Amino acid sequence: MNKSFTSRYEMRVQQAYEQQKSAAKPTYILGIETSCDETSAAVVRDGREVLSNIIASQADIHKRFGGVVPEVASRRHVENITVTIEEALREAGKTLEEIDAIAVTYGPGLVGALLVGVAAAKAISLARGIPLIGVHHIAGHIYANRLVEEMQFPLISLVVSGGHTELVWMEQHGAFTILGETRDDAAGEAYDKVARSLGLPYPGGPHIDRLAHEGQPNVPLPRAWLEPDSYDFSFSGLKSAVLNTLHNAAQRNETINPANLAASFQDSVTEVLVEKTLRAVREYGAKQVLLAGGVAANRGLRERLQRRCQEENVPLVIPPLSLCTDNAAMIAAAGYIRYQKGEFASLDLNGVPGLSLTDH
Ligand code: KG4
Ligand code: ZN
Repeated sequence: MNKSFTSRYEMRVQQAYEQQKSAAKPTYILGIETSCDETSAAVVRDGREVLSNIIASQADIHKRFGGVVPEVASRRHVENITVTIEEALREAGKTLEEIDAIAVTYGPGLVGALLVGVAAAKAISLARGIPLIGVHHIAGHIYANRLVEEMQFPLISLVVSGGHTELVWMEQHGAFTILGETRDDAAGEAYDKVARSLGLPYPGGPHIDRLAHEGQPNVPLPRAWLEPDSYDFSFSGLKSAVLNTLHNAAQRNETINPANLAASFQDSVTEVLVEKTLRAVREYGAKQVLLAGGVAANRGLRERLQRRCQEENVPLVIPPLSLCTDNAAMIAAAGYIRYQKGEFASLDLNGVPGLSLTDH
């Protein structure tokens, strides 16, 4: 890129930032999220107050294929992004001129999908001369909690989504240490695969959750505790055990009650997730537990974590369902922390499919 062009842009951004900081006015951040199959835009005031959070879901389109088709996702993002941003501004009662910074998910995710949001964010940042902030998708999921309650450090966040299962340790804003992560399938991925084997539609997590509440956890299934000191997770063995149970029953011409199988699967997943989280709370002395990611919508998980956190006397925050699944308000909330620190991206910002949480 032309050097004087970029330095002129950087000067305008710096000026806008300094003006805003000295004005003692609220900061309005426009968040943009397009990492997977939701096109979302949101306006958030001072990192904590959601003025709008528009989500155009593509789940119905991908349902036909039993999962997200990357090319289809990118194309839908292109079609939806402009109207989604306009709608977010309209609902917030703000114009683009009143926005102080743009925060956008730049990874991890599908590269073609990420690029749509990143390109839109860059265009607005350039046109308006306001800061561009790159946000890690998982940082966004964690900061969805700050839209509900202030964070108390040090804290542990259990992140469970369609692509991630992580236990994250935070001693201060914007600093993430991964204590453990999945070695194979993410929790949501395991839910979706098991749902598929039971003939349930995509995304299967909510269907298993509903079924689980109609059954008894009386089918013996394994719990992947791994090594005694490990905070890692593994769900592929459990998923195979569910498939084997179904196959063996079919061979013997027996029927398995799907509700009991769903309840048993959910019991195994939630027990391991919750007990590992509480072990980390005790070992590290966390003052708060945050639940994050799409699987945080799971009733079984919410109930179990609530009960165990109460028993162990540690405060727990769980975002409302609308902030658990992918949305742009959480991206604006995480972006606000970087805004305060002046950590801005350049116009070279790119989509990074394998972006790591610790060195982003
Ligand atoms: O965070 P998210 O919206 O997208 C990713 O970043 O991956 O999470 C989507 C995942 C899907 O796998 C979906 O099946 C799962 O969250 N999910 C659930 C429930 N609601 C959504 N899993 C279990 N129980 C639920 N109630
Ligand atoms: Zn997500």
